[in-house]
Amino acid sequence: MEIGADYYPEHWDRKDWEVNAKLMEEGGFKLVRMAEFAWSRMEPKEGRYEFGWLDDAIRGLERRKIRVILGTPTAAPPPWLVTKYPETLAVDARGIRRIPGGRRHYCFNSPVYRELSRKIVTALAAHYATHPAVIGWQTDNEIGGPVCWCENCARAFRKWLEERYNTLENLNRSWGTVFWGQEYSDWDEIPLPHGDGQSPSPRLDHARFHSHSVLTYHEIQTKVLKQACPRHFVTHNMMGFYDEVDYFELGKSLDLVAWDNYPGNKWGQGKVASAAADYMRSIKHSPFMVMEQRSGLTGWLEFLNSGDAPGQLRLWTYQAVAHGADKIVYFRWRTSRFGGEQYWHGILDHHGVPGRRYAELKRVGREFAVLGERLDGAAYVSSAGVLLHSDSRWAADIQKGHPKLSFLGHAANFTKAFSFFHAGLEYYQPSDDFSHCPILIAPTLFLVDEAMAAKLTDYVQRGGTLVLTFRSGVKDAANVVVNERLPGLLRHLSGCEVEEYDCLVAGESVQVETSAPLPRKPFQASLWCDQLTLTGARAIARYRSGPFKGSPAATMHHYGKGTVIYVGFNGEQAFYNALAKWLLAKNKALSPFAPSETVEITERVKDKDRFIFILNHSGSAQKLRMPPRCHYRDLLTGQKASRSTTLSPYDVKILGPVETA
Ligand code: GLA
Ligand code: ZN
Repeated sequence: MEIGADYYPEHWDRKDWEVNAKLMEEGGFKLVRMAEFAWSRMEPKEGRYEFGWLDDAIRGLERRKIRVILGTPTAAPPPWLVTKYPETLAVDARGIRRIPGGRRHYCFNSPVYRELSRKIVTALAAHYATHPAVIGWQTDNEIGGPVCWCENCARAFRKWLEERYNTLENLNRSWGTVFWGQEYSDWDEIPLPHGDGQSPSPRLDHARFHSHSVLTYHEIQTKVLKQACPRHFVTHNMMGFYDEVDYFELGKSLDLVAWDNYPGNKWGQGKVASAAADYMRSIKHSPFMVMEQRSGLTGWLEFLNSGDAPGQLRLWTYQAVAHGADKIVYFRWRTSRFGGEQYWHGILDHHGVPGRRYAELKRVGREFAVLGERLDGAAYVSSAGVLLHSDSRWAADIQKGHPKLSFLGHAANFTKAFSFFHAGLEYYQPSDDFSHCPILIAPTLFLVDEAMAAKLTDYVQRGGTLVLTFRSGVKDAANVVVNERLPGLLRHLSGCEVEEYDCLVAGESVQVETSAPLPRKPFQASLWCDQLTLTGARAIARYRSGPFKGSPAATMHHYGKGTVIYVGFNGEQAFYNALAKWLLAKNKALSPFAPSETVEITERVKDKDRFIFILNHSGSAQKLRMPPRCHYRDLLTGQKASRSTTLSPYDVKILGPVETA
């Protein structure tokens, strides 16, 4: 367990470097991530590399036993580069080239940019491959955008399509280009899609292609780094649920996942951070690190957000740890006095004098030292899985149905419910092995192919519990609606079919009533409702009002040794809570701790050690009662935990069992 800081020595006078390093050491900071935006310093002229300044900065840190993760600087090309090679700048959908001056304005398919990136990464890697203070690399920075509409990208898109569809006839048929008479007679006629009146099929392929472009660009860097620096790890700082690149694919080229975590001040928003942390851990199904952790008041060019209350920085740190992080690097060491992020606050303010935030993180550093290596690598305990299929997410978000529906928003109904019961979740992509997972939630499985249907069938047949929702099995791989009743290829599993569906616009809602095995209770539904016909399943909820009054709204189907739940509506949160409670109870996985909206509880295990994280996300004190017959020790203080304890606002406890009778 280690803390660290994102540090930009190039932003400070050399005389400050020693002060910074000393404060870092005193604060317990063991890691620094640096140099990811320093291309103009590393290569001030094409082909002239200058790493001496970086060597000096690292030397000062090394003296204080602080280790370094180096960023490759490609997220921000220097002005000489974009001036000399303007074709490296991305072009927007209207054909206008990006104006340089910020960052992330390069085109992933520019051969020149690819080559210049390869060169700087090669030079940097060669220089630091055997440096004793350097332990790993971060590629680029928050890779993913921009989407580019330049000629290079158009050509690359057509080539990608040709590889996917082989013939134009096949592409025309798969996309259904006969609609509005858009049949192609030459590959060169195919434009890069841009939304306007365009069919969802090319739009989905464009999303896939963009992700592919990012991944192939990124691979140039990982190849160089892995070859030149076999002793170092290679990671990338991902952005939680960001969707312009398929993170499961990106993860394959990395040794570990890193995450940039900027939680909102309110716990409602904070729940997103917990879900995102689970997703980040799930990319490699392994503990991860935080490369940028919020360390103060955030804001950008013009405006500020609200600041962190005392205790929240520590709380958010443990929130990430509670979900599987082993190293936390804070963004950033000292707030910049110039440039685009003067309002984005670091551990130290602009003036550099340590204050409340430094002290709070220093405390975390001390606590991490107490936890030591015991917790490193501990596995996260989960009770259920969530299927996150990139194609389904892209396709469903291209055609939301209701403006307030989104793939993630719908999934959050489930993740919030499991979090309420302190039940851990692990995310899976369809190609993962999820056979061991007793409950699998598949929200909006919009796009289903035969292989996925077969895999899910096998999963249920062997005893799994699969939860399907409305808008499942709607599309084929080309993003065309299936030629059968919904949920298409999943009909045999659901044991129900969609008779009709309705989008409840203008804030309408309808009432549904659940029945056994769920408790009999009324709930509101909004945004979407499927009218279901039973073809083997039984109803576990029916509409009590609205156009489908009396019809099944949710079903349960026993199939093989398993069970399939189909939820045909978007319910209020209480419905998902009731469903999660039933699912967890059925699998004997209900947490012994009382459910809570504000106190989050998670668990990690390693060998015989169990680490139970108790996080009070509210600004008021919360009572915590220990479950009957469970006895815990507070792992931070070493003291036996009393039967009932009060958590002060934003406080954290880490408990380990002493004995369980
Ligand atoms: C991102 C970037 C950082 C910085 C922070 C704060 O996460 O990776 O370089 O810009 O946001 O805005
Ligand atoms: Zn381009």
